[in-house]
Amino acid sequence: MTQDTSGADATGNAVEPYALAVEQRERPREVDDREPRFSWRLRSRRRGAAPAAFRVEVHESAPGHAPVWDTGQLPYPAEVFVPYGGATLRPAATYRWRVTVWDDTGAAAEAESWFETGLRGLDGFDGAAWIGADPLLAPEAGPPTVSDRSRATSSLAGPRLLRRAFRLDEAPRRARLFATARGLYELHLNGVRVGDEELAPGWTEYALRTLYRGHDVTGLLAAGPNTLGAVLGDGWFCGYVGFDALRGGRHYGAAPRLAAWLVLDMPDGGRTVLTTDGRWEERPGDTQYADLLMGEHVDGAARRALSGWAAPEGGVGGFRPVLVADRDLSTVRAETGPPVRVLREVAPVGVSSLGPGQLVVDFGENLVGRVRLTVRGAGAGDTVTLRHAEVLEGGEPYTENLRRAEATDRYTARGGGPEVFEPRFTVHGFRYAEVSGYPGDLDPADITARVLGSDTPEAGEFACSDALVGRLQGNIVRGQRGNFLSVPTDCPQRDERLGWLADAQIFAPTASRNRDVSAFFARWLPDVLHGQDEDGAFRDVAPLLSTYREAAPAWGDAGVIIPWHLYRAYGDLRALECCFPAMAAWVEHIHRHNPDLLWTRRTGNNYGDWLQVDAETRKDVLATAYFAHSCDLVARAAEVLGRAGDAERFHALRGRVAAAFREAYVDGRGRVAGETQTGYLVALAFGLLTEELAGRAAARLAADVEARGNRLTTGFAGVALLCPVLTECGRADLAYALLHQTAYPSWGFSLLHGATTIWERWDGWTPEGGFQAPEMNSFNHYSLGSVGDWLYGRVAGLDQDPASSAYRRLLLRPTPGGLLTSASARQETPRGEAACGWSLADGTLTVEVRVPPGSEATLELPTDETESVHEGGLPWAAAGGVAGLGTYPGGIRVALRSGRYAFTARYAAPGANDVA
Ligand code: BGC
Repeated sequence: MTQDTSGADATGNAVEPYALAVEQRERPREVDDREPRFSWRLRSRRRGAAPAAFRVEVHESAPGHAPVWDTGQLPYPAEVFVPYGGATLRPAATYRWRVTVWDDTGAAAEAESWFETGLRGLDGFDGAAWIGADPLLAPEAGPPTVSDRSRATSSLAGPRLLRRAFRLDEAPRRARLFATARGLYELHLNGVRVGDEELAPGWTEYALRTLYRGHDVTGLLAAGPNTLGAVLGDGWFCGYVGFDALRGGRHYGAAPRLAAWLVLDMPDGGRTVLTTDGRWEERPGDTQYADLLMGEHVDGAARRALSGWAAPEGGVGGFRPVLVADRDLSTVRAETGPPVRVLREVAPVGVSSLGPGQLVVDFGENLVGRVRLTVRGAGAGDTVTLRHAEVLEGGEPYTENLRRAEATDRYTARGGGPEVFEPRFTVHGFRYAEVSGYPGDLDPADITARVLGSDTPEAGEFACSDALVGRLQGNIVRGQRGNFLSVPTDCPQRDERLGWLADAQIFAPTASRNRDVSAFFARWLPDVLHGQDEDGAFRDVAPLLSTYREAAPAWGDAGVIIPWHLYRAYGDLRALECCFPAMAAWVEHIHRHNPDLLWTRRTGNNYGDWLQVDAETRKDVLATAYFAHSCDLVARAAEVLGRAGDAERFHALRGRVAAAFREAYVDGRGRVAGETQTGYLVALAFGLLTEELAGRAAARLAADVEARGNRLTTGFAGVALLCPVLTECGRADLAYALLHQTAYPSWGFSLLHGATTIWERWDGWTPEGGFQAPEMNSFNHYSLGSVGDWLYGRVAGLDQDPASSAYRRLLLRPTPGGLLTSASARQETPRGEAACGWSLADGTLTVEVRVPPGSEATLELPTDETESVHEGGLPWAAAGGVAGLGTYPGGIRVALRSGRYAFTARYAAPGANDVA
């Protein structure tokens, strides 16, 4: 039996399953689906190895329990998911499962994993209540205003401590703790913090659903006195979010509430459930104030006085009965996404002084998280203040671009020894921390940045020979890490941090290269659907906040594009099926209001090609192109889902919209109205032109790029399409020229000016103008980093066939070019690890690829001497697993079965000298 390790390196020739997952997560502790889906990836050392059959067995991990499901040996499925089909799963139980895979030679390999179920059907579930502090007893600070936000202005003056003491006659055999909050919570059991999730339970449309997480707490309980505690804060629920200070930030409610279930399986086989109820008590904690945007203020003296508050018989007083606020648990659901965690720590690269007691600490990269600071030598009552900034101006933190997000943390010392401060319920986007009021000298070892983000599993890597392009990839990854925090956000620093739909759809293809974002996006989709109105219009953001109009072109289309992308990248048919009615309704909404098929009405806030430079793409051109694109995807989704009638209807509509687009906006010479790069890009990328017009339009696009000295003009909507379309049109040379460009506007320009994350705007900072207007100038926005998908897909050459899903049929098209002498990409696809890379030396191109078992690949090998192509030292036609498919204009095309291959070929670099 193989261990369920996540490495893709096989140990033998059989086809081995690894990375076993339930609902796209490894070892989840709160599965609540009636038919959760099982999946795994495959690896083998043998070329041509393919899975032939499989078997899944599930049994409850408790004494005396028989298997609850056994598929028996079945032919290997084409889909990556196997839905559960056994007996009803018991709540709060542990299940072990095993998958066996037989390969094409009959050899078998197996792997095991486990998952736990959540609260569905739990006896005692209804006993829980939403509890919190009683606002009538707590001195009501009044709605916080922006001007007085720095004092203790939360509705209940800071996070509260909640606890319940109880006795157990004997230690439980097994204990699971489930909890959620309308607000933020951190759990403690007998003085020990439970789990490592931060900012739980994240952000959702709380009226629709509040998500609980499960924890194994068996080892934390003992016979005798026990205490379960929780720290409860405002967070998204009743703190500041977005840019409207609506009700002092209380978007969803006036005060935070907690719900929890402690499920105890006793040695005698009985089960006891302790829930949040009137037996809990609460009191103020050590934190005066905590807000995601504004920051946190912790009182060290209070912390010491309260130490042991959740220890058994801890003795801390001052508690009073909680308010039992509400018993409606109808919105409680199991968490399905990855937790937010501390993902890494970053040490300072420099500390400079701005004056007595005022330091600026540089962490060397723009990151998202908070600072952990050890305060030494402080007197009681001394307050150290931390202000956060992404950039400096004249050596000082520049914070205007944070708008009304104060991003300021304070620690008031108790005095008398080292004290460690790290805020709990706030998060900032920063590279620099200004420390003021620090007593004495700050030892850099006493300050560290703790990086927070949703812990999406690692999935891919892109590397190449050019250092600047490597830095670009690093910035893309960093921006993804910080902005994938519970929901996909636009930016992490200013008073915004919203789930903007266009940003998410534009970046999703890149995101799914770097990390496994399947569960992350699937968790967010219900909120996207929830925002849809009765007319079919999506909203610009999800969860719905700050902007309430119907969505703009390219924004609302995310409601179609993202479910489709999750199907393509991960084979997630269930998400597609569940979203399909909403996807269709969106397209119908556009159609209903634009019967002439040009999308000019009901365009919401119509942002156009947001943040384009030196060009003005016509909004109707962009909108109509997106209309056609969404029709196309809805039609393709209908096909995949077996809805033939819908498929036909939406294909026809798409054809008519494309015709209307050509009629209204394209002339016979291939000119797209407005003549902007983005206008050409959407027309070409979305297939709206005839072949003849496409050729002409492509030439015009290329001419525009060239006439500008290899510069781009694209904003959010166009940028993702720029390099891919140029490459597709045979102008990879120009795509590379843009990639290597360092003059404004370009990715290279921001890199040369110190960018460590992707800027919101091409002109975030320029030597002539300095910083852009602070009203909108984030240095950590991922949209313009959407070029990452092209780095993997065309530069390294790792992609899938347009008609394939979950990387069943790889399309490997390494594209040497520009200043690069090598590039490579590796990716954990849902079927196993795929890779493609190339290097060029002395006129010989080496291409190394990897195809997972169960997939096949078409490789386009660029060479002008097809007879020079060898694989593993043999003429390619003699190599095992390789079949010829003929030639294409740039070289030869071969079909590959699974396995690793190393090709060599003579190669005369075509465009290497064309780079500006
Ligand atoms: C956000 C964007 C968003 C946009 C809408 C901005 O404030 O930061 O990323 O998509 O508004 O145009």
